[in-house]
Amino acid sequence: MLNAGIEALGVAVPDTYLDMTELARARDVDPAKFSDGLGVQQMAVAAPHEDTVTLAASAARMALDGVDANEIGLCIVGTETAVDHSKPVASFLQGLLGLPSHCRVFETKHACYGGTAGLMIALDWLRSGSSRGRKALVVCSDIARYGVRTAGEPTQGAGAVALLVSDDPKLVALSPNVGTCSRDVMDFWRPLYRKDAIVDGQYSLTCYLEAVQQAYLAWQVQGGGVKPYASDRFSAICYHVPFPKMAFKAHGALRTFDGDATPSKSFEWQVKSGLELPRRVGNVYTGSLYLSLASVLACDARDLSGSELALFSYGSGSCAEFFTGRVTSGAQARVRALALPKLLDARRRISVAEYERTLAVAVDERPVAQEPSRAFGFLGVEQDRRVYARS
Ligand code: HMG
Repeated sequence: MLNAGIEALGVAVPDTYLDMTELARARDVDPAKFSDGLGVQQMAVAAPHEDTVTLAASAARMALDGVDANEIGLCIVGTETAVDHSKPVASFLQGLLGLPSHCRVFETKHACYGGTAGLMIALDWLRSGSSRGRKALVVCSDIARYGVRTAGEPTQGAGAVALLVSDDPKLVALSPNVGTCSRDVMDFWRPLYRKDAIVDGQYSLTCYLEAVQQAYLAWQVQGGGVKPYASDRFSAICYHVPFPKMAFKAHGALRTFDGDATPSKSFEWQVKSGLELPRRVGNVYTGSLYLSLASVLACDARDLSGSELALFSYGSGSCAEFFTGRVTSGAQARVRALALPKLLDARRRISVAEYERTLAVAVDERPVAQEPSRAFGFLGVEQDRRVYARS
């Protein structure tokens, strides 16, 4: 079996963020509810010049550092906040990055699972031999919006994670054993006419937790049988992180299923390092799970070389998958070299008033305006066409 997995990754976040203590005070909520109850510290806020395309392009550029664009034979963007009903974000990305015309380019959607769908397609493409030596670029990019003064408001966020997927997995080699659980549920959705998502909050938590156990069970059955404490073998478990406390709850559900009577004991060594970056960004929908993976590789103090880790992907609606990988020697040094915590430190903190003004801008209708030069920028709309700048 071909050794397929993640060769490189890239992360992009908006230029600005909101401090969650400030948001709590503005909403007359005890700040401990956000910091301890949800586990959020900061929330990324996308400005009008930033959208799913520009975030995807910035993350992809980081992942492709040193890679010849002609090596990319497949480009998939997983997103649930696309910029057009027809034209895929992946096509805009192809233009901005100069990907070759013989590259297969498309977009995948299934709420937060859309990026994992792209990753699974890329892995199957490699393992089947269809790639003929080429690599795949899978980008998960989203802007999570519930709206001002909603229960979901503190669980918004924005960003992108790009994965270079190949038969030379310099970061994580992924196993073909995948446990899947899908169900038709109305836990979270966004009708075509809406910018903000609608969610049945507590029900969405229940759906997610049931999916953790069912996907984990499916993975165990595929691997040859259910064994108590099977998850002990993982040095880290990365969960989809709509907010960090959800990963805590998910881990509790998984370990309880494993037969662990004290399920939170293993949280510190198996989950915590994967929440360092997510708690400063918020929900990135498709990218949240992979931001957690980046967080483990960037922030975990242990040498994880050769160890196994697990990933749990959840997309409302719903589809969930539990899968595993082995950390390649040198992976942590590669990801640390990206200086991801510094990327977050460099953002500008905005006030609640500025955040509210930003959300009120009708971004998709604004006329083209020149922006200060930056790597990729959304300039506005001209004759119903989105215009992007690339420096
Ligand atoms: P809520 O009604 O604001 O909060 O909704 P709550 O009353 O449930 O409180 C939240 C936590 O804070 C609770 O902790 C409280 O006890 C605690 P828990 O009991 O659950 O452990 N709390 C406090 N802690 C300390 N000090 C205090 C205090 N007060 C309360 N003073 C909810 C929370 C998450 C439901 C809401 O924010 C929401 O609807 N968010 C969006 C939905 C969501 O993120 N769902 C997650 C699962 S579905 C999913 O992950 C998919 C998704 O990413 C979409 C996709 O797939 O595309 C969302």
